[in-house]
Amino acid sequence: MRATEEITIETMTEADAKAELERLATLLATANTAYHTQDAPDLSDADYDAAKRRNAAIEARFPDLKRADSPSERVGAAPADGFGKITHDVRMLSLGNAFTDEDVTEFDTRIRSFLGKSTGDQIAYTAEPKIDGLSLSIRYESGKMIYAATRGDGAVGENVTENARTIMDIPNTLTGAPDVLEVRGEVYMSHEDFAALNERQTARGGKVFANPRNAAAGSLRQLDATITAERPLRFFAYAWGALSAPLSDTQLGAVDRLAAFGFQTNPLTKRFVDLNKLIAHYHSIEEQRATLGYDIDGVVYKVDDLGLQARLGFRSTTPRWAIAHKFPAERAWTRLEAIDIQVGRTGALSPVARLTPVTVGGVVVSNATLHNEDYIAGRDNKGDVIRDGKDIRVGDWVEVYRAGDVIPKISDVDLKKREKGAEAYIFPTICPECASDAIREEGDAVRRCTGGIICPAQAVEKLKHFVSRGAFDIEGLGAKQVEMFYHDEMLPIREPADIFTLANRDAGTLARLKNRDGWGDKSAENLFAAIEERRVIPLNKVIFALGIRHVGESAANLLARHYGTWNAFEAAVTAAQPETPAWEELVSIDGVGGVMAGSLVAAFSQKAERASIDRLAAELHIQPVKAPASDGSPVAGKTVVFTGSLEKMTRAEAKARAESLGAKVSGSVSSKTDLLVAGPGAGSKAKKAADLGIETIDEDGWLELIGDA
Ligand code: IVH
Repeated sequence: MRATEEITIETMTEADAKAELERLATLLATANTAYHTQDAPDLSDADYDAAKRRNAAIEARFPDLKRADSPSERVGAAPADGFGKITHDVRMLSLGNAFTDEDVTEFDTRIRSFLGKSTGDQIAYTAEPKIDGLSLSIRYESGKMIYAATRGDGAVGENVTENARTIMDIPNTLTGAPDVLEVRGEVYMSHEDFAALNERQTARGGKVFANPRNAAAGSLRQLDATITAERPLRFFAYAWGALSAPLSDTQLGAVDRLAAFGFQTNPLTKRFVDLNKLIAHYHSIEEQRATLGYDIDGVVYKVDDLGLQARLGFRSTTPRWAIAHKFPAERAWTRLEAIDIQVGRTGALSPVARLTPVTVGGVVVSNATLHNEDYIAGRDNKGDVIRDGKDIRVGDWVEVYRAGDVIPKISDVDLKKREKGAEAYIFPTICPECASDAIREEGDAVRRCTGGIICPAQAVEKLKHFVSRGAFDIEGLGAKQVEMFYHDEMLPIREPADIFTLANRDAGTLARLKNRDGWGDKSAENLFAAIEERRVIPLNKVIFALGIRHVGESAANLLARHYGTWNAFEAAVTAAQPETPAWEELVSIDGVGGVMAGSLVAAFSQKAERASIDRLAAELHIQPVKAPASDGSPVAGKTVVFTGSLEKMTRAEAKARAESLGAKVSGSVSSKTDLLVAGPGAGSKAKKAADLGIETIDEDGWLELIGDA
């Protein structure tokens, strides 16, 4: 981009302009596809906007050179294959952008001049956060949801009706709504839900999302709606498409009607007649940005009077009556003080940038991810050049950016400030924690320590995984405590089996624990009791807890269901050397591929690791897992949702039990739900189930149903 950008538009020849328009058309089309169709942006929002502005400025100077495929005439990208298509009754448009306060004043001036109003005339505008998600149009007829469609290219979107039905904030039926009503708004994911989703994805070995927007898009655009149902998507309503009767005569009034129908509308939406106050609200929203709990990328202003909106109408892709006032990208320059290498559970060496602390968008940043050695060297996973090929060296001045909740990253390096003699970073080839070789397998972007559990970093991370939720989940023994016990000379926990042998020990051990800092009589006893409680544990939990690379929670479930008992599983994996019948059986399990099988076999044949697994198994009573009981189980094949608090079991336990009976447990109620188990405090899920006519029972009813009462 840089070389051509040096040509200023004022001095450009026609030939320059033509070439530049062509380049920008390609750049923006590629970025559009990456963003909208593949949910994987390759250009930052700021660069995207800059390219669009440059394109528009060149077109303004050379109107005759405007291309037939000009990016200024496009909204989004054509729908992806795989979804049904829906032609929008009313096109779904984009918004023009304002970047400065002056741009906002000009917006107001344009509107006044269009409407023939003078500065003395009052025009009211609404201001509301611009949610960084993806837009959705939901059509209701006679109060019933008919379909939901993504924006697509504005004219034709993707049919995501089943997926939208799983979103709690989207009512299935409306009362008092016009016969035809298309509600439009933004599907998004909260920061909290995004972090939890990525945690689950990591545990399962699934795709980890770069930011909440991508997670929301990837979750909504699932061909399998049951996956969407497991993803905590939210929805803010802020606009409408086709309507059989007007909702109101103002924007604010119409949004209030949407709220009355049961939609979430943004609480920061306000109306102003004074432009200065409108802009002040923008700055106030900007200040709240970091604490809202979801990503926003600007503030949208709309003319409040719907009669005026109708008069103002649209340009080719944007309304004249609205504009998005974008926030400046959150970035800052600081010095890279050091590059540290962290070693993860599976031995991955992850470089972390230690920075001179700097405030980026209201948050102090002192660490940033450096991903892997190629990234530091200026290459992406495919070997293509990034940051114009600039490498990152200790002592460099680097530009850090934050997009929402995502871990800060480094976008640029200032070569002019690089100290003479600064040396290129040499990525370690031995593990900084245990000095074992760190090797990089072909096709892997990551270098890994080969030390296995003799590497203290891997051992601690494995222990943290072992006690995590979804695995052993021992109350009172979290990541922090495990780390402490690992380094404890008197009461060491160096591997999972030690947790149980610790609790095996005599009264003296308990006494020693009680005397430690942070532990008292009660907490020490509770810990021992909690450990004891987990000696009896289902097979799937044990398999997952082992923390074997590529074996996430759902793979562990599959393996457990397939082999049924620990003995059968252990014997099978031990025998499964490639090309044996045991290997064939392992890879034939739906959802277990050669890579996962290889990883399992490696863990069970590595001497130290195997010995540690055996020591653990000897401490436990591993409960067999039944294959989905399609015969006899009253809940086999049913989709069950648990809500409210359960008093006789934990949520995790209820879920495991239901799954072992062949039920599918989902996190949200949809038309696919067969049964809702509602404990005290059940709220919106119970209401939704009632709306959908789904059978709802309480915890006792559930226990009775499955024969556990
Ligand atoms: S109004 C006719 N309001 O931003 C224009 N859009 O860049 C209707 N967006 O496609 C859109 N928050 O996906 C509007 N409060 C808000 C919004 C919002 C996010 C999205 C929407 C739109 C895009 C345009």
